[in-house]
Amino acid sequence: MSRIAYVNGQYMSHGIAAIHIEDRATQFADAVYEVFAVFACKIIDADLHYDRLERSLAALEIEMPMSRRALQLVIEDLINRNRLKDGICYLQISRGSAPRNHAFPKSQRSSLTITAKTTRPGSGEIGKNGVRVITTSDQRWTRRDIKSVSLLPNVLAKEEAVKAGAFEAWLVDDDGVITEGSHSNAWLVDESETVITHQEGHKILSGITRNRVIAIARRNGIKVIETSFTMADVEKAKEAFLTSTSSFVVPVVRIDQNIIAQGEPGPITNRIRELYLREVHDFVQTI
Ligand code: PDD
Repeated sequence: MSRIAYVNGQYMSHGIAAIHIEDRATQFADAVYEVFAVFACKIIDADLHYDRLERSLAALEIEMPMSRRALQLVIEDLINRNRLKDGICYLQISRGSAPRNHAFPKSQRSSLTITAKTTRPGSGEIGKNGVRVITTSDQRWTRRDIKSVSLLPNVLAKEEAVKAGAFEAWLVDDDGVITEGSHSNAWLVDESETVITHQEGHKILSGITRNRVIAIARRNGIKVIETSFTMADVEKAKEAFLTSTSSFVVPVVRIDQNIIAQGEPGPITNRIRELYLREVHDFVQTI
């Protein structure tokens, strides 16, 4: 079955789906995006993604192209047309197309594109066995809370990881703080079995998975502190993991040369992963 994409009001074959040559996403990265996980044909945490999307759009003064309800219907339609059971939907909204000029165009018509792709939710083997990460310098702009498509530093960091045989790159800022990964949030479990992840603010993306994991952990008696951590903390860490919409909760078993938890997913990480998977299963039953 051929894949179907949505482009500004039309459903079209994925192979020929395209935006205008002067779309501001291509010339200025003047666009935001969201990645939704689809599990058993249902969108996980849709409202939280729409909340973040609206925050990103508002911060950049880009108009929402349609109501939240209409957007939900389009995404559901796309899921059906692609017969997507498990996978992801990628949504991008740009400031639209206009003759190239740095200033905002006088009349804006946001451009909306959505694609759907089958993937294995929770990333199967890596979720069970864990992954390696490297660290590299965080070269991004100062508003990482906005989910902008301006991802070149993330792309370069991820490529560095791939070349080193690692799954992800954790980004280290000028103060030596590990902010997050190139496409995921970063976590440690410290010597007192407290789970640590960088505090919200402009320095990281407020991950939907991150926020659900914090709530799940606290509800299950696992202590979580939102604070910054450095390589010195990595060296003492009992466990580590990463979270994202596409990979859920993934154990980290090595960070640069530091072997974490004897190179195996740790018990707290496994517990959080299981609780998260269970909650996702339960969630899709209720919607
Ligand atoms: N990445 N931090 C960054 C820089 C990210 O790009 C992502 C998501 C996250 C995790 O956020 P969430 O749990 O809401 O997915 C954190 C998406 C999946 C991507 O770019 O494909």
